[in-house]
Amino acid sequence: MKIIVFGSINMDLTAYVPKLPLPGETLLGSSYITVPGGKGNNQAVASARLGAQVQFVGRVGDDIFGKQVLQIVAAENVDVSQVAIDTEKGTGLAVISVDDNAENSIAVISGANWALNGQDVARAEKCLDGASALLLQLEVPLEASMQTAAIAQKKGVKVIFDPAPAVALPEKAYQVVDFITPNETETEILVGIRPTNEQDAAQAASILHSRGVKNVIIKMGAKGVYFDTADQKGFVKPFKVKSIDSVAAGDAFNAGLAVAISEGKSVQEAVRWGAAAGALATTKKGALPAMPYRSELLQLINEQQ
Ligand code: RIB
Repeated sequence: MKIIVFGSINMDLTAYVPKLPLPGETLLGSSYITVPGGKGNNQAVASARLGAQVQFVGRVGDDIFGKQVLQIVAAENVDVSQVAIDTEKGTGLAVISVDDNAENSIAVISGANWALNGQDVARAEKCLDGASALLLQLEVPLEASMQTAAIAQKKGVKVIFDPAPAVALPEKAYQVVDFITPNETETEILVGIRPTNEQDAAQAASILHSRGVKNVIIKMGAKGVYFDTADQKGFVKPFKVKSIDSVAAGDAFNAGLAVAISEGKSVQEAVRWGAAAGALATTKKGALPAMPYRSELLQLINEQQ
């Protein structure tokens, strides 16, 4: 099973603080880590750890962060041969705070990620032959992602789109993706409803369907996941874990979903894989280091049937 990720790659500078700082407030934190992140990169590494063959299409700068990140990601069995080195922009950087309740806030300096263009789409097109799924997010230019999505659909590759960080989307974006997976805040930006329960999520999903996307999966963190797809609809309860850091939980979710869909599992089972992967990601610090392995995911699913 081959999964292609077209997306962002960052270096994350994550500070652990008792609470998220208010505007103008200075807080004393307890520690920090510098680890690879970026929504695309996290989804790529998680997919590989969950058992997929993964090719990543993206851009880093010609700088020390770019070199470090690529070395670490390549060691995770992700094929980074299609990551271009951009000589004009620096590697993407995320400045993250995580509080004692595992909540986070993130500021991203996109750098080379925002330079993805038709050349990157052309490289992705070659990779898509024989792939089972394409994973997309919104930390690279929408136009390039949507061009890649349209090519993937023509080749019969399932397009799984994480609209994060969310922006209002043009109608055509909904028509070139097979799955859309917003969380609560992203759902509110897309449709004007912040889902807090299954009923709200169902209402939001029907609006997203009316825009042309067949499969809607709404991630509600600790409240669970609502799914409304061509084959099945329903609700998956959250897995119980001890959360310490929610960074990249949504990315792990999409990787779990993509791997399960690629393996031919039902939508309900694939959503459970996503939910388990997302939950496991919250039990460890950082983005890339917290991405779950297949053995951990299978164990959690077996323990909490
Ligand atoms: O989803 C988490 C990711 O968002 C972090 O790794 C950070 O780089 C930002 O892109």
